[in-house]
Amino acid sequence: LVLILDYGSQYTHLITRRIRSLNIFSLCISGTSSLETITSHNPKAVILSGGPHSVHSVNSPTFPSGFVEWAQKGGIFVLGICYGLQLIVQRLGGLVEVGEEQEYGRMEIEVAKNLGIFGNKKVGDKQVVWMSHGDEAVKLPDGFEVVARSQQGAVAAVENREMRFFGLQYHPEVTHSPEGMDTLRYFLFDVCEVSAGWNMENILDEEIKVINDTVGPEEHVICALSGGVDSTVAATLVHKAIGDRLHCVFVDNGLLRYKERERVMETFESDLHLPVTCVDASNEFLDKLKGVVDPEMKRKIIGKEFISIFDAFAHELEKKLGRKPAYLVQGTLYPDVIESCPPPGSGKTCSHTIKSHHNVGGLPKDMKLKLIEPLKLLFKDEVRQLGRILNVPDAFLKRHPFPGPGLAVRVLGDVTEGNALDILRQVDEIFIQAIKDAGLYDSIWQAFAVFLPIRSVGVQGDQRTHSHVVALRAVTSQDGMTADWYYFEHKFLDDVARKICNSVRGVNRVVQDITSKPPSTIEWE
Ligand code: XMP
Repeated sequence: LVLILDYGSQYTHLITRRIRSLNIFSLCISGTSSLETITSHNPKAVILSGGPHSVHSVNSPTFPSGFVEWAQKGGIFVLGICYGLQLIVQRLGGLVEVGEEQEYGRMEIEVAKNLGIFGNKKVGDKQVVWMSHGDEAVKLPDGFEVVARSQQGAVAAVENREMRFFGLQYHPEVTHSPEGMDTLRYFLFDVCEVSAGWNMENILDEEIKVINDTVGPEEHVICALSGGVDSTVAATLVHKAIGDRLHCVFVDNGLLRYKERERVMETFESDLHLPVTCVDASNEFLDKLKGVVDPEMKRKIIGKEFISIFDAFAHELEKKLGRKPAYLVQGTLYPDVIESCPPPGSGKTCSHTIKSHHNVGGLPKDMKLKLIEPLKLLFKDEVRQLGRILNVPDAFLKRHPFPGPGLAVRVLGDVTEGNALDILRQVDEIFIQAIKDAGLYDSIWQAFAVFLPIRSVGVQGDQRTHSHVVALRAVTSQDGMTADWYYFEHKFLDDVARKICNSVRGVNRVVQDITSKPPSTIEWE
């Protein structure tokens, strides 16, 4: 295991992913974790991430006391990246100061010594790397050597081979450092001698074993399927482990996309052979949403209603089985549970953060179900790989994310007004189908239409119209946390807009959303 201590860099999770891509298991925990937590992971190597702090700021995050001694005694390798390097230098008795020149962006560095981390490079070898720092190491702790310098002469890499401590001032994990992966690979395999044995087949076997060891032979498990990748892969995995003692429910809340219920139920039943009960609760949801325009209120109502339906499902099941289901499967992913370290002064502490909207459809408090979260150490793309091994159809695995509150956050204002939902479904289907036909679906993170609660004047068939406006939104993103709007060709947009106005009654204007996240969010509500 390679353990990453997170000091808040925007690239920390990328380090975890890069290392996993080498089939080495890596985990990321808060940089201020206790020594006990760090040692409990029993890592072979520890990477201290970059971060937005200066080692000189009050309360700047750091590793716990006893860390260096533990690493020395246990033969652990330690690599500091950017802020991580500066932490090592400062904590071991060197000096870090505000640099004369700040280094941001692409820079050239030159290998000064081919010792440990650059053991596969020649002295004098140059490489382009990505720097992003203001402070710099001006005096190294005893026993440390400079092994690379930037073109400005600043320290770019240091090491103390004997202590097994290494530091890179640049970010090897980003693609702007083209040889960065090569350096990480060499460091982990040749210097630390970490072995590569982590792959999705192993994860699958391990998870099945954990589920079988956890769930007793008579116990039952329930799972709410949303139709999304995460809950589907989680359910398929649990089904493989315990068979039909898994009971899934799919709720039609009246806020699904065009023919979504039929399409996902067909996949669940015919392709995945999952035991799924479909509950049509559209009237209940829509009744409760009547007249509600506040986005947060909509989410709360939907969350609450979902819980009561889920509760009823569990009680029905209890009557049928003669015993209470004991476990609940959730498709929680690693980014939802990752601990991260917010900047000092933000008022937040380093703690377990979960996006609040991921709790939509959480469990009722009095049900006392224990959780099974088989994907909680995986990133989305890893879940897709796992799904592939489990024969979840590709069309399903590649589906764009869809929010828990469904079309309620895509019809601005009252979702029950007029035939807003119906119009939105038709427009969305035309847009998504056009994207698929143009072969663009897989290059886009998420695409959808939004119904605006306004009317505009148009002229259709020589008649004046006063009809609805719809917006098209398509974004690219790595993880949904930030996003860029997608550039369609004009011809594509022209065709889609024409088709929408010609075939969807009640729409006479189509606009495109050209904002990124931030400042916008992906969804409109
Ligand atoms: P935003 O709109 O916050 O969305 O930029 C980021 C990603 O999260 C999805 N999203 C949700 N997913 N329940 C969910 O399960 C929600 O309430 C919710 N709100 C937004 C959104 O579709 C995007 O992928």
